[in-house]
Amino acid sequence: MPPRSLLPTNRSDQQLTFSQPGRRCLPSAAARWPSRMVRLRVSSTTVAILLAIQTGFLLFLYAHHGSFLSPSAEKPARVHVLIISSWRSGSSFVGQLFSQHPDVFYLMEPAWHVWGTMYQNSARVLHMAVRDLVRSVFKCDMSVFDAYMPWKRNLSDLFQWAVSRALCTKPACEYFERTEITSERSCKTLCGKYPFSNVEEACKTYSHVVLKEVRFFDLRVLYPLLTDPTLNLKIIHLVRDPRAVVKSREQTVKALTRDNGIVLNTNGTKVDDSQYKVMQEICRSHIQIYETATLKPPEFLKDRYLMIRFEDLVRDPLAEISAMYRFTDLQLTGKLENWIYNITHGQGPSRRKEAFQITSRNAVNVSQAWRDLLPFEKVKKVQDVCKGALNILGYQLVDSEKEQKDLSVELVLPYRRNQFSWVSFGDE
Ligand SMILES: *[C@@H]1O[C@H](CO)[C@@H](O)[C@H](O)[C@H]1NC(C)=O
Ligand SMILES: *[C@@H]1O[C@H](CO)[C@@H](O)[C@H](O)[C@H]1NC(C)=O
Ligand SMILES: *[C@@H]1O[C@H](CO)[C@@H](O)[C@H](O)[C@H]1NC(C)=O
Ligand SMILES: *[C@@H]1O[C@H](CO)[C@@H](O)[C@H](O)[C@H]1NC(C)=O
Repeated sequence: MPPRSLLPTNRSDQQLTFSQPGRRCLPSAAARWPSRMVRLRVSSTTVAILLAIQTGFLLFLYAHHGSFLSPSAEKPARVHVLIISSWRSGSSFVGQLFSQHPDVFYLMEPAWHVWGTMYQNSARVLHMAVRDLVRSVFKCDMSVFDAYMPWKRNLSDLFQWAVSRALCTKPACEYFERTEITSERSCKTLCGKYPFSNVEEACKTYSHVVLKEVRFFDLRVLYPLLTDPTLNLKIIHLVRDPRAVVKSREQTVKALTRDNGIVLNTNGTKVDDSQYKVMQEICRSHIQIYETATLKPPEFLKDRYLMIRFEDLVRDPLAEISAMYRFTDLQLTGKLENWIYNITHGQGPSRRKEAFQITSRNAVNVSQAWRDLLPFEKVKKVQDVCKGALNILGYQLVDSEKEQKDLSVELVLPYRRNQFSWVSFGDE
């Protein structure tokens, strides 16, 4: 783990960064950003010294006692991160937060190829193929794609390859340096023709392999990866208010019909989700994953599971991103911090609407849009099928249209990660 104080951690950082809906905008938010970075650097020097002392002490211990290392410390140096989420929950955005990091080899939804090839099966049957593909990719063994792609293939045959900064920079693509922030568009123009073997070659040069998947519905499927001594797996579980998810799914109905069929096991028949049967499955899976990880979790899950709510992320990106980076042993660089500031404030070059584009502008507004746009009748139905998930993940139900539309009524309950429990209102 990197030292705690390197990164802004506590919730009191919140007032330094972004305003919240229904609250007064802090005019100085932008102006204060640089001062936070200065503070960060000062403390990082102190921490570096402390770290050096600590390292020396540990080496001393090691020399004298030999095998004091715990089993988890024997895990391989490469860190494997799996972001599990569901459709339209902000996972592309979270994926980008990792993808743009210069230490990270990132692929978005590699198991798309599994589902695409075997679409007549159920999600449950495909779990194992998906898991084995994920395991191979973590180990940078890309031969696993032989089953799902033509033999003569190039890098651009990978699903959403151009959102992966690692596939757009050296050594995968010679046009960009790996410390650059890449854009999907320029990458598509310049990097598509490279041979597929560059994927594997690039992967092997990174300390972190990060994958994002919406295709796991049960945490227990991942147990063999957690206990695999050749993997050092960290799981980030990204959730979002199911009512907002439904609103967002309505904008992409067509694109989701094949996956819906797989979730509902329809033998290859495409279906829309007008009855919220898919939503019900998604909500059920979030409960299963969260409860499995937090109520009497097995020992091997210790320090390997982190739940993130999309709403917390858009309200206080830096605090949540810092928590995710800390959890996965990544350092937040000044350049990344600037970029994050840009994308969460609607600045910078990437404002075009692209197919799976991260929606960054007015992210807080976007996360609340369902309250304006989703008819109360639908809200009630979603609350019916997702009641358990709403409760467990800390989202308040609404009893009336009035309550739904009144943005001064807070529906996202504060969550204190450290204590792993919900705090009541007014506590902060
Ligand atoms: C590789 O990608 C380019 C550009 O996307 C495409 O035109 C070409 O046919 C691909 N080559 C192979 C062997 O698939
Ligand atoms: C699934 O669909 C295929 C054709 O698309 C059909 O041959 C097969 O019998 C179906 N299986 C079931 C269990 O309905
Ligand atoms: C952030 O946005 C500013 C203004 O558009 C731009 O000059 C700068 O290069 C951007 N920084 C990053 C890291 O994207
Ligand atoms: C956010 O939403 C509120 C209310 O819906 C609106 O008044 C405000 O202009 C929006 N802000 C931005 C930056 O779009």
